[in-house]
Order: sequence, then structure tokens, then C-alpha cells
Amino acid sequence: MTLVARGFFITFEGGEGGGKSTQIRRLADRLGATGREVVTTREPGGSPGAEAIRALLVTGEVERWSPITETLLINAARRDHIERIIRPALARGATVLCDRFADSTRAYQGAGGGAPETLITALETAVLGGLKADLTLILDLPAEMGLARASGRGGAETRFEAKPLDFHARLRAAFLAIAEAEPDRCVLIDASRDEATVAAAIWSWVKSRIGPP
Ligand code: TMP
Repeated sequence: MTLVARGFFITFEGGEGGGKSTQIRRLADRLGATGREVVTTREPGGSPGAEAIRALLVTGEVERWSPITETLLINAARRDHIERIIRPALARGATVLCDRFADSTRAYQGAGGGAPETLITALETAVLGGLKADLTLILDLPAEMGLARASGRGGAETRFEAKPLDFHARLRAAFLAIAEAEPDRCVLIDASRDEATVAAAIWSWVKSRIGPP
């Protein structure tokens, strides 16, 4: 892919129940009010093909896929999403807000599931084609608190939620390590606070990083 990204790419990351979707909606409203084109999207999913793959990944029996198979499916979905939605939007100059991206694969399939880091890195290089978030907001909270919040949501997309607590504790540690390793890209947000406080923290980081519309 040779498109030069001109927009601004923000990814939201973290474990279960951190309030990402709510915060993305709030941020999209705020950015939209400044006259920007804002595209909100999610992974796995975001394009019709990737949404079809999402349904395979997030529903059904916990042991339905091995972590390596998950890594392959997620990367197929990610490539379609990048080609059809993310790259074109960035090329138009849009601000893209994406609910999860490549860090989730490192955390869920790598640290959580034990998929080999060499596989994850090789696929990341091939699939991302140099695409990287300009800003990654990691919504951090204790695994128990996140799972308690997520279980109140209901719905069929519970395959990862249903994994044991130690899996979720490994995820949290992995996201904290990513934040520490890439401080220029990643910001850690304490998501155990109330919604408005978290939104204010997010807005102040985004304002400080994003250019004028
Ligand atoms: P969501 O519930 O935050 O929308 O995310 C869907 C689920 O997919 C969530 O439980 C985490 C999982 N997931 C992975 O395991 N690896 C990934 O790379 C991504 C993007 C999501």
C-alpha cells in the first residue's frame, strides 16, 4: 500500500469493561463539533468482511479457536479493515477513532493466549504495511472491575470475557508494558473513574496531540 496517511489515527485499547465504546462516542462528538470528519470503527470488524470474521471470533465456545488460529483470523480481518476503511479515511484527512487495534492482538493472543511473539510480529509487519496509530489511549482498570462491568452488558459476544481471571490479569500487565515501552504513542488512562472524568482526561490528551482541523 502506498497511500500516505494525512489524517489522524487514534486507537483505544485495554481489557474488558473499560468503557471504550462510550468514550469513543463522546470523543467523536467533541471532535465532530470542531468541524473534522470523524470515522469511528472497531476491531475485529469495521468493514463488512471483517465483521463477518468478528462473528466467528467473539461468539461460541471459549475453546473454539486456538490463540494461533485467532491471530490468523484477526489479521485477515485487520487487513480488510485497513484496506477498505482506515487507509481511505486517513487519505481523505479524516480523524479515525478505532476501538482496539494491533496492541489487542499482542495482549489477548500473545500475553493472554501464548501465541508466539514471532508470529504476531511477522503478521503485524505484513498486514499493517507501516500503518501505526498516532495516539493510543489505553483504558486501564483492574481485571475484576472490568469483568464485573462487562458482564452487565449481556449479549452474545462473550467468548473472551469468559476466559479465566488470570488470562485477564495477563492482558492488563501486557497493556501496561506496551504503554511503558512506547510512551510517545501510548497514554494510560485510569478507567476506574467515572465516565465524565475519563472523558475529560481523554480530551485533554487528544487536544494536546491533534493538529488544527
Ligand atoms: P470488544 O468487546 O472490545 O469490542 O472486543 C471484542 C473482543 O475481541 C474482545 O474480547 C477482545 C478481542 N480481541 C482480541 O482477542 N484480539 C484482537 O486483536 C482484537 C482487536 C480483539
